[in-house]
Formats: sequence, C-alpha cells, structure tokens
Amino acid sequence: MSAKERFYVTTPIYYPSDNLHIGHAYTTTVADSLARWHRFAGREVYFVTGSDEHGQKIQRAAAAKGVTPKEYVDVIVASFKDLWEKLNITYDDFVRTTDDRHTKAVQAVFQKIYEKGDIYKSAYEGWYCTPCETFWLESRLEDGKCPDCHRPVEWVKEESYFFRLSKYADRLLKHIEEHPEFIQPETRRNEMVNFIKSGLEDLCISRTTFDWGIPVPSDERHVVYVWFDALTNYLTALGYPEQTELLDRFWPADLHLVGKEIMRFHTIVWPIMLMALDLPLPKTVFGHGWLLFDSDKMSKSKGNVVDPIALMAEFGVDPIRYFLLREISFGQDGNFSRRALIERTNADLANDLGNLLNRTLSMLNRYCAGVVPQPAGELKEIDQDLISYASGLAEKVDGLIKELKINEALASIWRLVGRANKYVDERAPWNLAKLEDKGELGTVMYNLVETLRVVALLVKSFIPETGAKIWAQLGLEGLESCTLADAAWGLLQPGTQTRKGDPIFPRIEVEKEAPEPVQEKQEKPEQPKIEKAAPAAPEGVLIGIEDFMKCELVVAEVLAAERIQGADKLLKLQVDVGSEKRQIVAGIALHYKPEELVGRRIIVVKNLKPAKLRGELSQGMLLAATAPDGHLEIVSVSAAIPAGSKVK
Ligand code: MSP
Repeated sequence: MSAKERFYVTTPIYYPSDNLHIGHAYTTTVADSLARWHRFAGREVYFVTGSDEHGQKIQRAAAAKGVTPKEYVDVIVASFKDLWEKLNITYDDFVRTTDDRHTKAVQAVFQKIYEKGDIYKSAYEGWYCTPCETFWLESRLEDGKCPDCHRPVEWVKEESYFFRLSKYADRLLKHIEEHPEFIQPETRRNEMVNFIKSGLEDLCISRTTFDWGIPVPSDERHVVYVWFDALTNYLTALGYPEQTELLDRFWPADLHLVGKEIMRFHTIVWPIMLMALDLPLPKTVFGHGWLLFDSDKMSKSKGNVVDPIALMAEFGVDPIRYFLLREISFGQDGNFSRRALIERTNADLANDLGNLLNRTLSMLNRYCAGVVPQPAGELKEIDQDLISYASGLAEKVDGLIKELKINEALASIWRLVGRANKYVDERAPWNLAKLEDKGELGTVMYNLVETLRVVALLVKSFIPETGAKIWAQLGLEGLESCTLADAAWGLLQPGTQTRKGDPIFPRIEVEKEAPEPVQEKQEKPEQPKIEKAAPAAPEGVLIGIEDFMKCELVVAEVLAAERIQGADKLLKLQVDVGSEKRQIVAGIALHYKPEELVGRRIIVVKNLKPAKLRGELSQGMLLAATAPDGHLEIVSVSAAIPAGSKVK
C-alpha cells in the first residue's frame, strides 16, 4: 500500500501586542480551509499556528500597562485562541514561544549552528524598527524611516551574535532556481531573488539591551533575536530537537503561509537556518497579499482595523470565512468592505446556495413527501450537462486547491450551484408534477438533491457550518467521515427522507450607500449608515390603516429593462410612475427576460427610500409574489389602468 500523502501547513505566529484583526483572520482561515480540504481528501495533515511572544515590542507594551510581559501576553494569547475557536479553526498545535519546549528548540538550533561555526560574536551598530522587529541598513531606509511600516527607526549599538547569512547566498539562489515552487507567487520570487542578489549582510541574532527573550546558551546576557526565535516554531511543533515520529513524518513543511511583508524572513533567513542545520527546506512559502481597508493597510495606529469577533457576531461565521476566501484573489491584495461582505453574502450564499436548498426541498416536500425519488427515464441533454459538471467537480476542486487557487475553487463550486438553479427553471418540476408519469419528475428531483449533497461535501472545508446544515436538511448522516470519494455522483440513496429547515442564509437588506463603519475609529464616525431593513412584521400582528396608508403604491409602466453586468439576479427597469420617470433595480432576472417586461403595468412602492444595488440607483420597489419552490411572478394590472394610478 502506498504511503498516505502528507500536508504540513503553518500560519505565521502572531504578535500578542494587540488583539487580532480581520487581516490576521484571513491567513488563518486560508490555512484552516486548506487543512480541512486535505484531510477530506484523505491526506495526513498537520496544521500549526501560534503566538510570537518575545521581543522589545512586547516588553515595552507590557511596561506601558504596568504588568510583566508574561502577564501581558497571557491575556492576549487567550483572546487569540478564543478567536480561532469562534472562527472554527482546526489547528493541531498552537506554539507559544514562551513554552518550555520552544525554549529548548531555539537553544538547540542556536547551539548547533554556533558549533558549526556559522554564528560569531561581534557588535551591532545600526538602525532597528521595533514595531517590525527588524534591523535595517541605512541604505534601505525610506526618508529615514522603516521601509516596511514607515515608522521611525531607532539607533541600536550593542554586543551581538551574528549569523553568517552571506555564506549561504549562492546555495540559496541555486535552490530557488531549481525549485520554482519554493517561493510563490512568482512576483514575490523575483523580489526575493533581487534582494539576495543585491548582497546579503550577516544577520544580528541576539540582543543585550533588554531581557524578554530566550537566553543564548552559555551566554545569558544575550537573548535570542525574536525572528530567529519565532521561525524555529515550525520545528518546535514537531518536537525538535528530539528526533520524533512527527518530525520524520511532517518535515519538511509543505506550506508556510505568510503575508508578503514577512517573506524575507521566511525565504532567506529561515531557509539558511535550515541549511546550517542540515535540514531540508520547506516545499513552498506562499506570500499572500494584504487585506486592505479603503485601499489602505489596516493598522491600529490608522484606526481602521476591523474586528472579526464583532463581524461574526453580526453576520455569522461562514459569511466571513466565505468572503475572505472568495473575494480575494489569493496572492494579491484585496479590499475589505462591509458593503462587499453583505453583497457577497446575499448573492452567493442567500440567493444562490440558500435558495437552491430551500426551493429544492420545498418542491420535494410538495411533490414527493420529502423523500428522495428513484431517478427514472432517459436523461435529457440538460440532465447530462448538470451531471457531467457535478461528477468532475471534486477532482477539479482538488487540483485548484493543490495549486492554491482558493477563490477559483470556490467559483467552480458556485458554477454548479448556478447551473442547478438554472436547471430548476429549465426543467420546471412544477410542470412535471402535473404529468401522470412521475418518472421525469423523479429524475429531476433526484438530480437536484444529489447536486446539493455534492455541494455540501465540497463546501464543508471552507464553510463548515453550512456544509453541516445542508447535510442535515438532506437527512444525511456521517458527514465527518466522508472523503473526496463520497463526492462522486450517484451515491445518494433513493428513499432518503429529507428534513427541510429554516433558510440557511437569510438575506441581508442594504438600504443606503454609506461610509464604512470601522472598529475603533479615533474620531467616532456617525451612526453606521448601512442598515438592515426592518424585519417583516411577524405573522398575526395587526397594523392600523394609518400604517398601511404610509405606503404609496402606484401603477407604473415599464418603459425599458436591461440586465446589470456582473449581477446575475438583477434587472434595471425604467418605469413611468405617472408624475415622473424612475429607475428601479429588482432581483427578478432569473424569472423574467428584460423584453418580457416592457409595456407591463406593474405595482411599485413609490415612497421607499432610494437605495443603491451593485452601484445602480433604485428609486422604488416592485411587488411580486414568490411560491415556496421559488417560482416568482410580478404583480401587474391590465393596460386599462394608466401609470400613476393609486393602489390601495
Ligand atoms: N510575529 C511575526 C510572524 C512570525 S512567523 C515566524 C508577525 N506577526 S504579525 O502579527 O505582525 O503578523 C503576522 C501575519 O499577519 C502577517 O504576515 C500576515 O500574514 C498577517 N496580516 C497582518 N495584517 C494583515 C492584513 N491586513 N492582511 C492580510 N494579512 C495580514 O509578523
């Protein structure tokens, strides 16, 4: 039997100098989704994250609060673990650099490299950026400031140990050349190659002007430089310096996921440490982009950090996970905005996926008493088309995930969801249900439920709660033990009793365009202006006629209608409401072709506050009725009633 494939993935270990923001949650969500996917695909996975607790930055932050560094980090590290739990992160190990096991690993690494002759004692005199914990040559500064964070640097002069980076430059360049997969994406590889070619200085790897760190073995006046300490965590997690079974199984790491600003440490310092230790290099270091807020990097000092806990409390976990994974092209910078989050949730989760589940199970209840029927009769081309796309999808997604094309993997799953929604409209089960022979209805309903089963399996690594909810509504069990092979077409058993539940993603209504509310703005913004619409009045609650009369309903004639690029569900209508012409954006594109609407007299709410949908102004709302299976019809009157007539 061939050995199982393995996958060791790591995130950077975060500084507990402050609470984590959505940018940190991004890296960890990506790592978690990859780990979950590879486990699902039957691979042996080890997933490590942690906290980088030493260094001058933390020591100063603790002193400012009047507590010891350990007291300071203990509180913040607890909040990291709480965040990861809320975000459903399934790490196998969490390395704290204050763990004893880590101290042992770092001291062993230092000692081994020292004995090899690649560490020597000298004195450092130069610039240091404390927020980045980075030494800088004067020539690399920008306007005298740190080129990474643009904050002031400090002049440092102290006795230090140095690591002979320069000795290994050629060997590293050769490795990069021979292993194009080592540094990804390619743009980062080019940056790193240029950096190395511009000349590597030996690196200062100990400090003596403060003591919050791991003591250098046999010279305890020095503490190990925080990056030398932190990078070692990837070995600590496997039990180094002991020759453990974990180390045998999982080293070299398959993937270090890091933000682009810390690529130098991971693709130059870390590989050279490993070369000096005679250990193999990680297979891939992937430098992802930043999550920007209004095109600017999030940072506490700019007051534009977005708190993931608050977002999850408002929107739920899976919308946040989905947004991070789908919206941002992995490797490039991406923008976070509340509006984009709401639009993504509504479009992909509520409308596409949620609606497919809801309408499929409603129809199944109505036509088949909620029981999965036996497919019967010959397959039509439309059926074949759906089945062949769904059948090849698991393998396709696996390929994309291996190439780290996460957003493309999700897009390919959502293409199946889109096809299935279209399939409902094309195959119109409500018409098939009227036929005496129910064979074709059985085939169509089976295909829809089976599509949802495949989708649940394929999405569960990315949005785990959603996968589980769909699975439960389909009446299935044993999701945890399913593997990629279970995503093959046709494994759904006819006779399965489904259990339709509440919609899995209620739509979030957006009423107004507004500035983005952010957490901790230094000057408090006015009330956030994106509001959720008031929920529909609960059934059975009576309103007075005066409430109803507040609603100005009129007949409007549709003058023109067109699709909106990039919004599959929306149509833009120009209507005449009697007194004036208006533009209305309506979510009816799956139910009406634009040309079907021109000339119709529809009913609109004329005094609704204007809103923008996908950047298009909507000045009113049309009335329509939706059947439980999702079939939608616009309310309209005959040409005998002129535009502008009141409706009451
Ligand atoms: N402690 C070091 C890492 C040591 S790893 C051996 C460190 N910590 S950090 O807390 O400052 O940042 C860690 C990582 O957070 C960044 O590399 C990046 O992966 C992630 N991000 C921080 N802000 C981010 C965004 N705005 N967007 C995306 N990722 C961001 O550096």
